[in-house]
Amino acid sequence: MRQQLQEIKAQAEGELSAVGSMQELENIRVRYLGKKGQLTLVLRGMGALPPEERPVVGQLANEVRSFIEGKIDAVKGELLKKERDERLLREVIDVTVPGKRRRLGHRHPLSIVMDEVKEVFIGMGYEIAEGPEVELDYYNFEALNTPKGHPARDTQDTFYISENVLLRTQTSPVQIRTMEKKKPPIRIICPGRVYRSDAVDATHSPVFHQIEGLAVDKGVTMGDLVGTLQVFAAHLFGENTKVRLRPHHFPFTEPSAEVDVSCWNCGGKGCRMCKNEGWIEILGAGMVHPKVLEVCGIDPDIYSGFAFGMGVERIAMAKFNIEDMRLMYENDVRFLRQF
Ligand code: PHE
Repeated sequence: MRQQLQEIKAQAEGELSAVGSMQELENIRVRYLGKKGQLTLVLRGMGALPPEERPVVGQLANEVRSFIEGKIDAVKGELLKKERDERLLREVIDVTVPGKRRRLGHRHPLSIVMDEVKEVFIGMGYEIAEGPEVELDYYNFEALNTPKGHPARDTQDTFYISENVLLRTQTSPVQIRTMEKKKPPIRIICPGRVYRSDAVDATHSPVFHQIEGLAVDKGVTMGDLVGTLQVFAAHLFGENTKVRLRPHHFPFTEPSAEVDVSCWNCGGKGCRMCKNEGWIEILGAGMVHPKVLEVCGIDPDIYSGFAFGMGVERIAMAKFNIEDMRLMYENDVRFLRQF
């Protein structure tokens, strides 16, 4: 029996040294230590031994058992380690491979200009106002002292939806909407889209952007308008920018002016950007017409105000030296990336 045990031990040792998988290992365990395993069978036969031999054989059997158990544990450890090493090798990550760079988007040139203008006027205590793009004829023309048949209507090629509903041709209707709701002191700017039935070319688009401004209070003068525009121009175009007003006509302001700023490229000497003029026209402005104040229920004998309206595309084109307005609507990143 002792010899049998020695043989089992040697045989198990041999088999265990050649194990290649967990499954094989488990098979071996069952074959030797399982309920019907070789060692178990030998132990069951112990009853047939003479009593004095039993303890000796018993001890040997236990030794063989723990020897095999130990071996199995050791082989198991090795197999697990091998498996892990192989997996690590398979899943290896090359941290030196260059990453994929994600491009960060940024603001559109029109948004840059609108944000800058907003910032300047908010700094002077103005609030942002809004109005609808589908507008009533009343707000877009009538209340702005431009009744049906007025020649000033002809200068704006209008998209009519019905006789009394249109796409707003200017942000000026927001003046009326604001003064109807709010009494002076009023200080608002209104950036937004406007529509005119113009053919597309390098300087025209049927949809473009304006920023309207309105200030109404007691004792507001043309001097306040000029001073305000000077602060605005200095912020947007540089410290030394000069402002020039030329007489003009708008039905809803009196007196009215077209406003130029000295060319920020040449400082007024004349260059390609200002077409050798030294000045660049940027907006229309004037003192709010007494009739306009009146239709909004504001007494023109007590209050006065100024208003202005600028084209955002025009300013962006000048500021960023963009030659064709269409570029601003095409959303080509090669263009947009430049600003
Ligand atoms: N709404 C005018 C335009 O589109 C500009 C303007 C606004 C003029 C406010 C005077 C006062 O041409």
